[in-house]
Amino acid sequence: MEAVAQGQPSSVLDLACGSGDVTLALQNAIPTAQITGLDFCAALLAQATARGVKHVVEGDALQLPFPNESFSAVTLAFGLRNFSDRPKALLEIHRILQSGGLLALLEFSPPPYPWKLFWDFYLFRFMPWVAQRLTHQGESFRYLASSIAQFPAPSALHHELHTAGLKLLFTRPMTLRLVRLTVCRKVS
Ligand SMILES: C[S@@+](CC[C@H](N)C(=O)[O-])C[C@H]1O[C@@H](n2cnc3c(N)ncnc32)[C@H](O)[C@@H]1O
Repeated sequence: MEAVAQGQPSSVLDLACGSGDVTLALQNAIPTAQITGLDFCAALLAQATARGVKHVVEGDALQLPFPNESFSAVTLAFGLRNFSDRPKALLEIHRILQSGGLLALLEFSPPPYPWKLFWDFYLFRFMPWVAQRLTHQGESFRYLASSIAQFPAPSALHHELHTAGLKLLFTRPMTLRLVRLTVCRKVS
């Protein structure tokens, strides 16, 4: 929120907003901005609206239903690793951002060795095992684990962002280095 609010955006798109955790936090942090939450899951958007998100749009991140240069900032929390075509989604983000606009990206990131050994055990063994017993949804948690493991390392992600015309401003590990905030700017 701080990284986005500092740029004093007038309009923010919270992409893949789900049930609206980040969208709501943006509404509170930047009350002067027009905040829009977008997701392709109507049931989650209904939850977001019920929780107080003022403006939601049902749509696909790979084909955003907005004209060029519609937003001064985009946030994307735990969504990018789920997109079937990451380069296409990044080009769409670039298209709908105004020149100089910010993208703030939150995503899981593998911790360094030796912690990665514990993290992999937790992700691939412990978490699906517990989830299967508690929720009978072990398969969903195996998907979660593999989507996290297949997400590119920071240097490869920075290359993808650069290819899409997004210049890295800074990146910061968070939450025991399991999550990474990446903030970039549209340069061209
Ligand atoms: C893990 S949730 C994150 C939700 C929210 N950003 C948060 O941090 O609480 C991932 C979200 O991405 C959405 N999603 C995945 N692919 C999408 C796409 N192509 N277009 C729009 N939303 C998508 C899903 O519906 C889901 O709500």
